[in-house]
Order: sequence, then C-alpha cells, then structure tokens
Amino acid sequence: MVTHTIRVEPIGAEIPCREDQTVLDACLREGVWLPHACTHGTCGTCKAQILDGEVDLGDASPYALLESERDDGAALICVAQPRSDLVVEGEVDVDEGVGVHPVRDFRGRVDSLDEVAPDVRRLVLALDRPMMFNPGQYVLLDVPGGHQRPYSIASTPSNGKVIELHLKRSDNGVATDGWVFSTLDVGHEITLSGPYGRFSFRPLRTQPILLLGSGTGLAPLKSMVRHIDENGGGHHVTLYHGVPTEAGLYDREFFEDLEARSDWFTYRPALSRDDWNGRSGRVPALLAEDYPRAGGHVAYICGSPDMVADTMKALMKARLFPRDIYREDFFDSADRAAGAHVVRSPLIRR
Ligand SMILES: Cc1cc2nc3c(=O)[nH]c(=O)nc-3n(C[C@H](O)[C@H](O)[C@H](O)COP(=O)(O)OP(=O)(O)OC[C@H]3O[C@@H](n4cnc5c(N)ncnc54)[C@H](O)[C@@H]3O)c2cc1C
Ligand code: FES
Repeated sequence: MVTHTIRVEPIGAEIPCREDQTVLDACLREGVWLPHACTHGTCGTCKAQILDGEVDLGDASPYALLESERDDGAALICVAQPRSDLVVEGEVDVDEGVGVHPVRDFRGRVDSLDEVAPDVRRLVLALDRPMMFNPGQYVLLDVPGGHQRPYSIASTPSNGKVIELHLKRSDNGVATDGWVFSTLDVGHEITLSGPYGRFSFRPLRTQPILLLGSGTGLAPLKSMVRHIDENGGGHHVTLYHGVPTEAGLYDREFFEDLEARSDWFTYRPALSRDDWNGRSGRVPALLAEDYPRAGGHVAYICGSPDMVADTMKALMKARLFPRDIYREDFFDSADRAAGAHVVRSPLIRR
C-alpha cells in the first residue's frame, strides 16, 4: 500500500499515512491530537484545511462539508484519505490536565453481555492489553460486514484491560439489532480501536459539575463519576439521567449507593413518560426548573442529538456559556442520512 507523508501545521509534525487510512487515524495513532467527535463524516468537528496535496474526501456528509468548503480546500479528515503528500492545517489544542493517548488496535473477548434495561445491553470486554484513555472517550468496534461503530466507555482508566460499554438497540441497526442483540455471546472475540473523542473529563476545572445524559448517554458520564470517586471525590457532581420509564434507570442502585455514601454526588433520574414517586420530565425541563441560573458550573451533555441540542439550549438560557459546556452527540446512520444535527458554531465544544 502506498504511503504518503502528512505535515500538520502549525506544529510541523510529519506523519506517515497509507492511502487506505484516514488523515485523522494516522495523526491519532502518532499521538498528534486533532479535534474530532463522530469519526464518520457527520458532525463537521474535524474539518481542516488542506494547504497542499490531493485528498480523496471519502464519505463526507454533504451537510457537514458544503460544496463551497470543498472548493475552498477543506476536508473532513476523519474520512479523507491522502492521494499525495499533504500539508494540513489543524487546530492542535489539548486542554491542560487532559492526557493524549495514541489510538491503538485491540482484541477483546466478551466477558459478559447482559440486558440491563429494555433494549439496553451492558457489554464487558477483556482486552489483550490495557487501553489508556480519558474518562468520557469512546472506542470504535469492528462490526461483522466491515462496519465500525463508536461506543463510549463506561469503565475507568484504572483498569484499562476491562472495558464496559452500554448499547441501545436500534431497529434494523447493523451493530445492535444485527449483532450485539442477536448473535454476539460471551466468549466471542472481537476487535476494536481507541481511544477517540474530545468529550472527556477536565480534571483541572474546579466548578461544580453537571452531568446530563439520556439513555445510554449515561456511559461516558458513569466513567467520569467512577473516576472522580476512585480519586477521592474533590468535585461537586450532579448527574441527571433521562429515560422514558423507570425500567430504563439502569445502574440506579450504583448511583443511589454512591449518593448515600458521599458528600459530593447527587443523582437525579428524569423520567419522561412514567408516573412514579420521583420527578417526571425530560432532562432539559428538570434542569431549567433546578437551575434558572447555571453560571459557575461546567456541564457535560451526552445522548441523542435532539436531547443534547435541547439541553444545550436550556443551559445557555440559564446563562452557562458554551466554553463551559462539553457535548457528545450519539449520531447514528439515520442522523447521518438526514444531515440534521451539524453544529456550525465554533463556540460549541465537542
Ligand atoms: C461518539 C459516539 C459515541 C457513541 N456512543 C454510544 C454508546 O455508548 N451507546 C450507544 O448505544 N450508542 C452510542 N453511539 C451510537 C452508536 O455508535 C450507533 O450509531 C448505534 O448503536 C446504532 O448502530 P447500529 O449499527 O445498530 O445502527 P445503524 O445501522 O447505524 O442504523 C441506525 C438506525 O438508522 C436507520 N438507518 C440506517 N440507514 C439509514 C438511512 N440511510 N436513512 C434513514 N435511516 C437509516 C436504521 O434502521 C437504524 O434504526 C455513539 C455514537 C457516537 C457518534
Ligand atoms: S469527526 Fe469528522 S465529521 Fe465528525
């Protein structure tokens, strides 16, 4: 396979990249951290300028990379592959206190696979070697048929050889309906790579933390909570978990126990459909009730793109600035086809 050299400006790093490899993949494997979120050409976070050389733009969504941007020499580097040596202008901005962990390939054996809520499975993988990652980051699972799908890590870096994932079933979904919820079983071997993503815990930010998740958007937030707990607390954390019904509140016991034994953690379930003896309402609505003013916090939002957008709006209405908000949108193939949720504001962090 032909290999080209990518020079990343302004840092001047020179990186080998095969023609069948994406520019982002080559950079992340060499420890050169460039912004990215979905890694499949949907969100636009990885948009970069190709200053010199030829690229194949790959499967970039026309909504995330407009025709005019293509003409101006921009590319989504998570799907773009080199066709010559390249000079790429990237925004290499790593926050203080956040580790840079090069992407690696792993083999994993399915240690357990349990239904923890309706249409939600917890997949625990024993890896062939420890993965270094920041709480909040995700892995790409290789799915039978040559597909890859991103899943956030719910476990912590303290034991990087065991990775916990939470997967929600999608009707006719290739990875979920067609594999994890049908043929995958304990003992099966799978391959994956990681870690990916910018959505990770910022340990040096000392403001009270709002963790806002819906459905399996709980996964990276659970990693953050457990990580903070393993390191003796030290942050004031409130976790909202939005699900339709009480049966969807998986890991409830874990969070209730933690709330009972700590003075830094509060757990707030948010049920959108059930009448129960707790509060009902979606996460953005409960948040608006609880925090008419949210300034002075730092927030991490994760879940479906609709939930993330609505929660973002609620926080901004409550005067929390985008610089204090981190988000992970669980884009899927339907979002990609619709092109609906591309975030164009450079102020909004992914
Ligand atoms: C950074 C990131 C992290 C994520 N982390 C998690 C996580 O921790 N847990 C989790 O559960 N999910 C997570 N997701 C979502 C996950 O990666 C998958 O998208 C999801 O599991 C669906 O995958 P699938 O292969 O089963 O479905 P897909 O095959 O991708 O299909 C998804 C849905 O779209 C429909 N569809 C497919 N093609 C089209 C089309 N062309 N037009 C219209 N509809 C279509 C399908 O019928 C299906 O209902 C994450 C996503 C991102 C981007
Ligand atoms: S990370 Fe490349 S488009 Fe989302």
